[in-house]
Parts: sequence; structure tokens; C-alpha cells
Amino acid sequence: MNPILEINSLGKHFTLHEQGVQIPSCSHVNLTATTGELTALVGPTGAGKSSVLKCVYRTYLPSSGSILFTQEDGSTIDLCTASESEMLQLRERDIGFVTQFLHCLPRKAAIDIVAAPMLRQGESANTAREKARELLNTLNVPERLWNVPPATFSGGEKQRVNLARGLIAKPRLLLLDEPTASLDPDTTDRVVDLLNHIKQDGVAMLAIFHHPELVDRLADNVVELAMARNTLELHA
Ligand SMILES: Nc1ncnc2c1ncn2[C@@H]1O[C@H](COP(=O)(O)OP(=O)(O)O)[C@@H](O)[C@H]1O
Ligand SMILES: [Mg+2]
Repeated sequence: MNPILEINSLGKHFTLHEQGVQIPSCSHVNLTATTGELTALVGPTGAGKSSVLKCVYRTYLPSSGSILFTQEDGSTIDLCTASESEMLQLRERDIGFVTQFLHCLPRKAAIDIVAAPMLRQGESANTAREKARELLNTLNVPERLWNVPPATFSGGEKQRVNLARGLIAKPRLLLLDEPTASLDPDTTDRVVDLLNHIKQDGVAMLAIFHHPELVDRLADNVVELAMARNTLELHA
């Protein structure tokens, strides 16, 4: 099967003007992600794993290379050069991102935070809330918390809400950045089951896992990033 995502020689650096240096956050990254498979990104802290995902989601604007994404109609778009409005559209329907932390709106109930992506895809409020309940249940979020805003939740509880929100809408490409870092073993097992299910549903995943054991359990391909050192001195 052809990959849905093909990253060629991707590089990202940050220019610190005051210090007169360029810091590479990732460089010469090549990888693919395929429908129904999970590609795991591994490597030491600081190797640029999170930066690669942020470049795909375009939280970071890539410095070099290409990120070719195959759209539903079969056409290819380079996420390095796509416009902001094209990116907004892709984030709405095609590309999901579960980060390590939940940045939630104050005073919005957990169940509504989880249901939101499905509502945006045009589902009815009832269907979206029903699916949200099912996911919160599967991820072991106690029912007494469903109607409470997650601001006061524990780290693990917030992470479950975050995962439920990321998994509810079944994007065509799902980016995962250490989604199970603060979960207990039982909930981690449930997440592994869920990820295997959505894999079977044809979602392509590009993921970073805190625990190497999860790479063994979930990855179809493993891509190792080396440290991108060589801070470059800029000359005025
Ligand atoms: N917004 C940023 N500004 C400056 N440097 C950054 C930024 N984001 C990442 N970096 C640098 O890029 C390198 C890779 O970071 P990151 O992608 O978070 O690595 P990893 O996820 O593999 O631990 C780090 O040295 C980090 O300091
Ligand atoms: Mg990281």
C-alpha cells in the first residue's frame, strides 16, 4: 500500500538572533506512515521527535525538505508549503494530534471537550456525546468527572480526556506524542487496545512512546532519530 505520509529530508532549525546562533531541532528526517499501520519515532531526548510531529501538524514551519500528504481525493499536498487555510482544513478533517498535555478551556465539561471534534465533523450532539461517553468509559475516566471541567483533574485523568478527544473523530493520520506517559498499566493496556482498533479501521499513525515496551506492542515500523547537533554560528 502507498504511504499516506512521506517525509523527505525534513529539517527544522531555530534562529536565536540575540545569541547569533541557529539551533537544529531535527535534520535529514526520512520516514513514511501508511494507512492501517503505526510508525514509531524513537531516539534520545532532544533528538527532535516532537519537532517532527509539530512540523507535520505545522505547529512549526519546517526549514527544509518535504512532507507529502495524500488527501482523500488522492491528490498530494506538501505540508511544508501548504497555506494556513489548507492546514486548518486538514486539521479539521484529516490530521489529529494527541499531545502529552491537555490545554483545556476553563468551564467546559470533559464530555463536551471529548465530543467537540465529532460535532465539528457534522455529527449530531447526541451521537457525539454517546461516543464520548463510550470512550471515557473505555479509558477508565470515572463517570462522576464527565460533567466537570478537567482543570482540576489529575495528570493521568487529563491525559485520558486528551486521548479520548484525539481518538473520537478517527482522522486519516493520527500524531501521538507520548500519549500514555502518565497512565497506569491497566489504562495503558486499554489505550493499546484502542490504538489497535483504530489501526484496523484504517487510521495511519505516527507516534512517540515514553515506554519502549509500547513500541514493541504497537509499531509496524520504527524510525530512529539521531541527535541533530552542530549549532551554527551566524555571522553578521
Ligand atoms: N520552539 C523551540 N525553540 C528553540 N529550540 C527548540 C524549540 N523546539 C525544540 N527545540 C530544540 O530542538 C531540539 C529537539 O527538541 P524536541 O523535538 O522536543 O526533541 P525530542 O522530542 O526528541 O525530545 C531540542 O534541543 C530543543 O531544545
Ligand atoms: Mg518530545
